[in-house]
Amino acid sequence: MNYNIIIVYAASPDASGLAQGIARKLQLPFTDIAADTQSFQLVLKADGQKLSLLHNDMELYGDFTAMCRRLKPENLRSEFLVKAAKNARIGSSSLAVDATAGLGEDSILLAASGYRVLLFEHDPIISLLLSDALRRASDVPELSDIISRMKLVEDDSISGLKNLSETPDIVYLDPMFPQRQKSGLIKKKLQILQLLETPCSNESDLMNAALSAKPKRIIVKRPLKGPLLSGVKPTYSIKGKAIRYDCIVLPENNS
Ligand SMILES: C[S@@+](CC[C@H](N)C(=O)[O-])C[C@H]1O[C@@H](n2cnc3c(N)ncnc32)[C@H](O)[C@@H]1O
Repeated sequence: MNYNIIIVYAASPDASGLAQGIARKLQLPFTDIAADTQSFQLVLKADGQKLSLLHNDMELYGDFTAMCRRLKPENLRSEFLVKAAKNARIGSSSLAVDATAGLGEDSILLAASGYRVLLFEHDPIISLLLSDALRRASDVPELSDIISRMKLVEDDSISGLKNLSETPDIVYLDPMFPQRQKSGLIKKKLQILQLLETPCSNESDLMNAALSAKPKRIIVKRPLKGPLLSGVKPTYSIKGKAIRYDCIVLPENNS
């Protein structure tokens, strides 16, 4: 991504230390003056409560509290991703690897359904937003137990999947969809994410890394009519209105 379009902004004095530390680490400009942010396309804002990414009139931040209703057991059952993941027997030690974590909304569905989830996110800004959302959610009584099963690694999953210390039950892949949709048609959240991320160009490396981890299944999120990821045919698919989950079931001792 083009880091020249981003500035780190401390919107309150108590956020200044954190914001300056982020700016130093990512070698981005820093300001605590609102007017300085105007010539930048993206503003990474720390306000003492949370980290968020601003673009025009849009604000993006991770917010797991908004998902509390979806995470209740009676609602969780109807989530397509949970259905796609449920056939593997979930024990307290079952491990799912989310190789494309983003803001972790899919990961938390897996964690709420009982998996320990290892989240890989390679973009440092998205990883910061996710880490901040996890930190805030860990203080929410309804979420703390679920969050305790989620571990974020800021790294590329293509190498990470090849160096896991244990064999995962599931590897979940949700790279940016291949065709960009018209901006009016997609969620605000995705419009901002698309400024940071280009559609996945290393699909086959991602799929090969997932296969090399030898999970029981790989689950791939795709647009309903989108092409297969790296041409790998699923064992079956679970289809929603706009989204499809391709489930690739692998033999137990695949080598
Ligand atoms: C479409 S978003 C995923 C959204 C996510 N499923 C959610 O629920 O929020 C794809 C994310 O995967 C990340 N990503 C893509 N390729 C990756 C890789 N090889 N390793 C780690 N992260 C990757 C991107 O930076 C982006 O944040």
